[in-house]
Amino acid sequence: MVITLSNVSFSYPEDPKRPVLDIPSWSLSKGEQVFVHGPSGGGKSTLLNILSGLLASTEGQVTILGQRLDKMSSRQRDRFRANHIGYVFQQFNLIPYLNAVDNIRLASQFSQTKKVSLVEQEIQQLLITLNMAQKDWQTPARNLSIGQQQRIAIARALINKPQLLIADEPTSSLDKVNRDAFMTLLMSIVGDNDISLLFVSHDLSLASYFNRVDALSDINRIKEEH
Ligand SMILES: Nc1ncnc2c1ncn2[C@@H]1O[C@H](COP(=O)(O)OP(=O)(O)OP(=O)(O)O)[C@@H](O)[C@H]1O
Ligand SMILES: [Mg+2]
Repeated sequence: MVITLSNVSFSYPEDPKRPVLDIPSWSLSKGEQVFVHGPSGGGKSTLLNILSGLLASTEGQVTILGQRLDKMSSRQRDRFRANHIGYVFQQFNLIPYLNAVDNIRLASQFSQTKKVSLVEQEIQQLLITLNMAQKDWQTPARNLSIGQQQRIAIARALINKPQLLIADEPTSSLDKVNRDAFMTLLMSIVGDNDISLLFVSHDLSLASYFNRVDALSDINRIKEEH
């Protein structure tokens, strides 16, 4: 199993009496690609942040690739994420003044499993695979189009060869043509590299790209009428 959750609950420390997540049991197998949909405010980003170790669950067992995240310190979780998980954020979170190559290289420096000599070659290979024109490789991210920034964000999530890729509504700012192109590319990369994918969105029209589709309301016992 890539992800196993057991009796996981979470409430934000600012609001301890109002749980956001209560998940009796949920899992993701190796090589599986799952689409989890749910409304705005339903807890999708909160769930992804727990799975990637950015947040610690309040209770329960969070097992990722055989490791118990709920038993790790936040430093251990940061290191685990850098080495095993790729994360494509909703707003990409690129460093705006760094170019494509530097943004991706920065992510590779957080991982300890990386051989430095191979990094430059792998960055170039990823940018080629993602159809980034070479003339754009040295342009600061803030001067690139949303579609180009998005491809850098995927390259950055993949540079450390993660076994698990987590994507938080990365298509929300794209038009339909770019969205379809992005999804096709993403699915072919995860398929070719046998990467497990957890993709969340409120946009049900994306479900057709996935062979497993889960509703957050079936996973999470907390409903969002707070
Ligand atoms: N830092 C925070 N402190 C307190 N409450 C928070 C915090 N972040 C999110 N919440 C609350 O947790 C609930 C779930 O939020 P979350 O961001 O996980 O939803 P979401 O499904 O990702 O929504 P969206 O589709 O709009 O991105 C919301 O009620 C939100 O107000
Ligand atoms: Mg969200």
